[in-house]
Amino acid sequence: MADLASIIASNVNGSLPTPGRIQPGAYIETWKDLFGLSFPAGAETEPVARSEAQQAELQAYLDSPEHVRDREKLLEHIRGSRVLELGSGSGSMLELISAGHHNLSMLVGVEFSPYFFQHAAAKLFADKARNGDAQIFLVRGDVTQTSITPSFFDTAVMTSIVHEIKSLYGVAAVENIFENVYGGLAPGGSLVVYDGFRRPDEDARLQLHTAYSSERFDEYVAARNGELALSYEADEVILPVSDAVEFATKLQASEGWDVELREDYYPFSLAQYRGILEDIGFRIEVKTFSEEIDQSALAEHITVHNYATGANELTAHHNALIVARK
Ligand SMILES: C[S@@+](CC[C@H](N)C(=O)[O-])C[C@H]1O[C@@H](n2cnc3c(N)ncnc32)[C@H](O)[C@@H]1O
Repeated sequence: MADLASIIASNVNGSLPTPGRIQPGAYIETWKDLFGLSFPAGAETEPVARSEAQQAELQAYLDSPEHVRDREKLLEHIRGSRVLELGSGSGSMLELISAGHHNLSMLVGVEFSPYFFQHAAAKLFADKARNGDAQIFLVRGDVTQTSITPSFFDTAVMTSIVHEIKSLYGVAAVENIFENVYGGLAPGGSLVVYDGFRRPDEDARLQLHTAYSSERFDEYVAARNGELALSYEADEVILPVSDAVEFATKLQASEGWDVELREDYYPFSLAQYRGILEDIGFRIEVKTFSEEIDQSALAEHITVHNYATGANELTAHHNALIVARK
């Protein structure tokens, strides 16, 4: 395989942009077919664009120190010299990897939102010296349409994007991406997934304290097309804990209720993740974590308690860390 510098030189008309000089958002056309990835024309277009305000809200969350600290535990699972992040958002994970992983030769982030793309580029390419010798690239493209050169990467990372893919495109799209990543990993390479997971056997007691939360809950139930398993005890709604926490998370977001209604933060149970990945051929290890979150502003509107344990369910997100090895 040709070395990276000559691949870049032959793909960008002979002029080799240094990361610091790359114009954010400008290089999907010239940089496609690079870094072991390729995209069909149009694959840089977002299917459902969030508003600027929603992206700013999400970005503030992704960049917050608590959130970044929560991601540090992923670093020990990122191995080898060529690392790919699918859905790299505002670049927090890329930044952590570039700072904390020392035998990196190539780090590639794929992201289709121009807003996040530019934010990440500003952050990552502002201080080239800090990134050492690693070649860091951002590519604007749709990960559901991205082809990956066989056996090219050592690690692929998908943090908080599997739930978005499932919500926007369905289960088959998630399966396709996992299969594509499997092909693109070198033997022994890993896919690291970090995302919410559904807790299928636990219920919650939800109390709605305000007209606002009652109205929003009715809309949430309607958007789920009768798929929610609801029952009532006195003034409490009894429902699966994942659905109750899902509702709380949506209510917490101050921007974009309509987009929130389409999104499903807890896409699969651990058994479902395992089934999909093992069917493709991965060997997997799963750990679960709870990420502390501050949803105290919700207390005026709702309370959510675990039906069996009585625990307050508004103080943590439950995430699964899945290391899937080829
Ligand atoms: C919740 S953010 C997570 C960002 C980053 N992985 C992190 O953990 O900090 C999910 C990101 O995936 C991006 N995304 C969703 N679907 C995508 C797709 N089909 N192609 C490329 N990016 C996508 C979104 O634009 C968003 O930036």
